[in-house]
Amino acid sequence: GAPVTADITGLQEGQRLILEWRGQPIWIVKRSKAVLDALPTLDANLRDPESKNTEQQPAYITGELRSIKPEISVLVGLCTHLGCSPEMAAEIKPEPYDPNWKGGYFCPCHKSRFDMAGRVFQGVPAPTNLVVPPHYYENDTTIVIG
Ligand code: FES
Repeated sequence: GAPVTADITGLQEGQRLILEWRGQPIWIVKRSKAVLDALPTLDANLRDPESKNTEQQPAYITGELRSIKPEISVLVGLCTHLGCSPEMAAEIKPEPYDPNWKGGYFCPCHKSRFDMAGRVFQGVPAPTNLVVPPHYYENDTTIVIG
């Protein structure tokens, strides 16, 4: 499939831009500083906090934020369990309520939870973090997926 270009000029904190690339939904989300600060505090509750499984992202995506620019997260919007599309759940409290839940992505099919870096929580059906697709910045506000 051909690369897809996204203009993120107007993207506000907490907003998600949804594109399609190779028949998959691609999410581009602008994260607030509060969200970024919360991510490292979740590590003990996650299956693969530093994304050591390299099949989930390109080699240039490392660390807890899983992004090129700290605030901009780019993810394939498909649950790594059976491929449902998770909801962006910054304000949802899935049952059973988890005091460590600080928002993120919640898959309604079998209740898998991911944080705002797409990192999977322990104890849910999804085996791995959400996938980060190959992408780069053509300029400060233009992202090319693919
Ligand atoms: Fe997402 Fe099963 S498809 S939890």
